[in-house]
Amino acid sequence: MQAKIHGIKIHFVSTGAPTATPVVLVHGFPFSHAMWEPQLGPLGRQHWTIAYDLRGHGSSAIGDGQYTIEGHVDDLIGLLDHLEIDRSVIVGLSMGGYVTLRALERQPERFRAVVLCDTRSEADDDEGRLKRAGAIADVKREGAAAFAESFVSKVFTAETLKRALPVVETIRGIIASTDPLSLAGNLLAMAARTDTTASLSSVEVPALILVGEHDSITPPTLSRAMAARIPDAELHVVPAAGHLSNLENPEFFNAKLLDFLGRRLRS
Ligand code: MLT
Repeated sequence: MQAKIHGIKIHFVSTGAPTATPVVLVHGFPFSHAMWEPQLGPLGRQHWTIAYDLRGHGSSAIGDGQYTIEGHVDDLIGLLDHLEIDRSVIVGLSMGGYVTLRALERQPERFRAVVLCDTRSEADDDEGRLKRAGAIADVKREGAAAFAESFVSKVFTAETLKRALPVVETIRGIIASTDPLSLAGNLLAMAARTDTTASLSSVEVPALILVGEHDSITPPTLSRAMAARIPDAELHVVPAAGHLSNLENPEFFNAKLLDFLGRRLRS
């Protein structure tokens, strides 16, 4: 399915009945809605589950290639408006978490629970910004396939890479087919994002935090720090998983997510 949001084609898929509680899934960089494949079926049995491609990713349009997290939040709110969703559960992984945390700051009334996966509230420090600048230069010089190769080696556990599980190939393919203009534009957007740490103590909805035990991009220490600040947060460390905990251990991830939604949407 597709929607025209702020003049741009945004692609999305959904499972479940539109009469059920909406759950919106926001993917990380540089992936697509397809990274939520293990969640779409199980979630859809109980909730109206919507996974979309952020602009520049998957089958959404690329636009002008100049992105900000603010712009991604505008698109998210635009999609909620398009689907006539007043209040949803929002689930964001990594960059999707940056979008989620900023959306919660800007429009808290649009959300009834939040799930933060393998993400962080802190903005990039100078070292992080310089790394992004280096990655932008690499993308421009070497293209998406080389970027995919190096990125894949960072997001999965050594065990998953060694066993060459199909999910590695799937993610490599998604990254390699992302336009270098989008890769560069989103690296710049992440480098320029604001710090949402100060507002964590004002989050009024229940929060679930999930993080892979071997996540080296957004390690568990950062998740624990977020959980300590959010008034009503619970945290689970996903065993045998790196940065893409929903893909490396979907059984554990889904069990915790469904249990949280079952308990907290009732109360
Ligand atoms: C992501 O998975 O969205 C990115 O790796 C996050 C980041 O680079 O900060």
